[in-house]
This record gives sequence, C-alpha cells and structure tokens, in this order.
Amino acid sequence: MKIRILTTAVLAATMTLPAMAGNQENIMEARKIIKQFATQLKGELKKAMKEGGPVNAISVCNDKAPKIADDISASSGWYVARTSLKPRATANNPLPWERKIMTEFEAKKSAGADPKTLDYSDVVEEDGKKVFRYMKAIPTGKVCLNCHGGDNVKPEVVMRLKSLYPSDQARGFKEGDIRGAFVLKKTF
Ligand code: HEC
Repeated sequence: MKIRILTTAVLAATMTLPAMAGNQENIMEARKIIKQFATQLKGELKKAMKEGGPVNAISVCNDKAPKIADDISASSGWYVARTSLKPRATANNPLPWERKIMTEFEAKKSAGADPKTLDYSDVVEEDGKKVFRYMKAIPTGKVCLNCHGGDNVKPEVVMRLKSLYPSDQARGFKEGDIRGAFVLKKTF
C-alpha cells in the first residue's frame, strides 16, 4: 500500500496510529538531516566565495556537495541527494517520481505557497522492503544567483560551468524560484 502524506496534512483515516507516529518521526529526522546538509553546504559555499569568488566556489558544489551528501548518508544511514527539474549535473537528473513531486511543488508555488514550506513524504515498497521517502523544495536565494542566475552570471563562471557541465539546465533562476529538492530515503 502506498501511503502519501502532504506536509502535515491530515492523514488518511485508514492509517493506524503507530504507523502515523513512525512517519512523523521519520519526517522530523529527514528535516534534521536536511538542515545539517544545507548548513554545511552553505558554510562551505560562503567561505569559498569569500576566498576566491564564484569561480573558486564552483568546486565546492562540484566536489564537496556530493561528498557532503555521501558523508551524511554514511553517518545517518539515509540516502541523501539533490535533484531538480532543471538539473546542472546529469547525476542529479530526477527519477519519474521525483519529477512528479517537483511538478506538484511548482503548481503549489504558482498557487501562492511559500517554497520554504513545500515538502512531501510517503512509504513505498522497493524490492520487497518498505522505504520511507521524503522530498523538500530548495528555494533560490540571492547567493545562488552567482551560478544559477541569468545574465548576471559572470562570463568566467559561465565558461567554467560550460566546460564542467555541457548539458547544464540550471541557469536563469530568480530569487524565490524553486531551484530543486532534497531527496531522502530510509529503508526499514
Ligand atoms: C559557485 C557556484 C554555485 C553557487 C553559488 C550555487 N550553486 Fe548550486 N550548483 C553548482 C554546481 C557546480 C552544481 C552541480 C553540482 C554537482 O556536480 O553535483 C550545483 C548543483 C545544485 C543543485 C543540485 C541539482 C543540480 O542542478 O544539479 C541544487 C539543488 C543547487 N545547486 C542549489 C543551489 C542553491 C539553493 C544555491 C544557493 C544557496 C546554490 N545552488 C548556489 C554551483 C553553484
């Protein structure tokens, strides 16, 4: 059975109480891990920008973002990743279910929702095992525009990005847009 929860919306009456409590716990844990990931990433990004500007900071996103995700995965036991409807790295291309959820996030944003509040969770079966899945929208902040913006992106940054990511789609974002989403999974 597929259980779907939209943010903290009222749960289906068919769900049992223990299952509900377990999911609430998983949601809290997923949010905590995301906070840790985002804080670490932003810290590294700001430091690198200060030290050598956006061209220098590209390496943070290029090398460190996947590494931080792997480290957090290893220490927490959760699968941790980032994806987007307009991905920069092909390694971050969305799976069909991730695309569907992000499309729903976009629709909700268009209807007036604050991207900061958009998340999703469900429980599915994968290879005979129950998997808790969680996604959280990532809003575009001002600092992100150095590498994900439009015409404001410096030519040397554009050149570096082009050589690293020939099929980059992650340009032209504005502050407040949904840049992508965190994806977390836990098998139990
Ligand atoms: C210095 C340049 C730079 C800045 C600033 C930057 N990014 Fe990125 N971003 C990148 C690069 C490079 C990648 C590809 C990372 C990889 O190879 O996994 C990336 C990838 C991502 C991804 C993963 C999905 C994808 O498109 O591949 C998300 C989500 C993302 N960035 C969000 C943000 C947000 C939010 C901010 C602002 C807080 C930000 N970025 C600031 C360069 C940057």
